[in-house]
Amino acid sequence: MVDVEKFIEEKVKEIKEKVGENIAVNALSGGVDSSVVAILAHKALGNKIKNIFLNTGMMRQNEPESIQEIFQKIGIEVEIKDVSDRFFEALKGQEDGEEKRKIFRDTFYKVLGEAVKESGAKCLLQGTIKPDVEETKAGIKTQHNILSQIGIDPEQQYGFKTVEPLIDLVKWEVREVGKALSLPETRFNTMPFLGPGLTGRVIGEVTRERVEIVRKANSIVEEEIMPLKPFQCLAVLFKDKATMKGDENAQGRNYGDIIAVRCIESKDARTAEVTEIPYDILKKIVKRITEEVPGVIKVVYDITPKPPSTIEYI
Ligand code: XMP
Repeated sequence: MVDVEKFIEEKVKEIKEKVGENIAVNALSGGVDSSVVAILAHKALGNKIKNIFLNTGMMRQNEPESIQEIFQKIGIEVEIKDVSDRFFEALKGQEDGEEKRKIFRDTFYKVLGEAVKESGAKCLLQGTIKPDVEETKAGIKTQHNILSQIGIDPEQQYGFKTVEPLIDLVKWEVREVGKALSLPETRFNTMPFLGPGLTGRVIGEVTRERVEIVRKANSIVEEEIMPLKPFQCLAVLFKDKATMKGDENAQGRNYGDIIAVRCIESKDARTAEVTEIPYDILKKIVKRITEEVPGVIKVVYDITPKPPSTIEYI
C-alpha cells in the first residue's frame, strides 16, 4: 500500500495544479470513492469545488438527502440535482440488462456534461479506481465513470477534462485513505452498490413504479440484515409474477410481484458464499416485504454461491 499521508499530500497538490484557477465539479454518489475525492478536492480547492449529487431516480431510500446531510456536517456543501425524468425516459421499454447499463451510462454522462457546463467548470473530478478500468476493459462491468478508457474524449465530447486521483488504487486502499481523511465510518465502509443503481435490481423494464417496489424491498432487507454486517445484501424485482392466494369466491387468478433477497459474504466480490441468515430474520423480512411493499406477494431467499451465479442478477 502507498504511504497514505504522502498519497494525500501528493494528490492535493496534483488536484491544485490540474484545476488551476478554474472551478471543478465532483459528481458525488456517496460511495467511498467519490466521497474520498470530495474531501481531497475540498482540501485542494476549498470552495472552488462544487459537489453535485445527480439523483438519477435509481438511488436507495433517502440516499441523496442522507449523503447531503453527512457532508454538511463536515463542512462540505452538496447540491442535489433531480434528473430522474431523463433516466426513466431513456430507459423506457428497455429490458435487456446490458442495454440498460449502457443507457444509464450514456444518460449519466449527458446529464453530467450539461451540469458541468452549466456550472462553468472546466474540470471534472472522478473517483475512478483501478478495478473499474480493468473490469470495464474486460467487459465484466459497464462502469459509468470510465470515459477515456472506452475511447471517449471528455474534453472533445463534453468540453471538460477529467482528473482521477484514485486511478492507481484498489478498494481497500481507498478505504484507508478515507479513514486517514476522517471520513465518517458509514462512508468509508459502505456496502458495495451498483453504479447504475437500482436499474440493475429490476429485471425487465425500469419504470418509476417498479423501481419504487425494489427500493422499498431493498431498504427493508438492509434494515433487517445490516446488523449481521454482511459483505452485501440486496433485493431484486423479478419480471415474472406469481399467483396470489385470493378470496375463495374470486373469479380468475390474480398475480403479484416476486422479490428475491440475496445476502453474501465475500472478500473482493470475485467469489461469494451465501450468508446463513437466522430463520426468524428471514421470516420477518418476508412478512415486512409482503405487508409493506404494495403488490409483492412472494419473497424468495437465493442461496446460490458465486460461482456459478453472480452476486447481482443482471
Ligand atoms: P457480480 O454481480 O458481477 O458483482 O457478481 C460483483 C460486485 O460488483 C458489483 N457490480 C457493479 N458495480 N457497476 C458497479 O459499480 C456495475 O455495473 C456492477 N455490476 C456489479 C456488485 O454489486 C458486486 O458487489
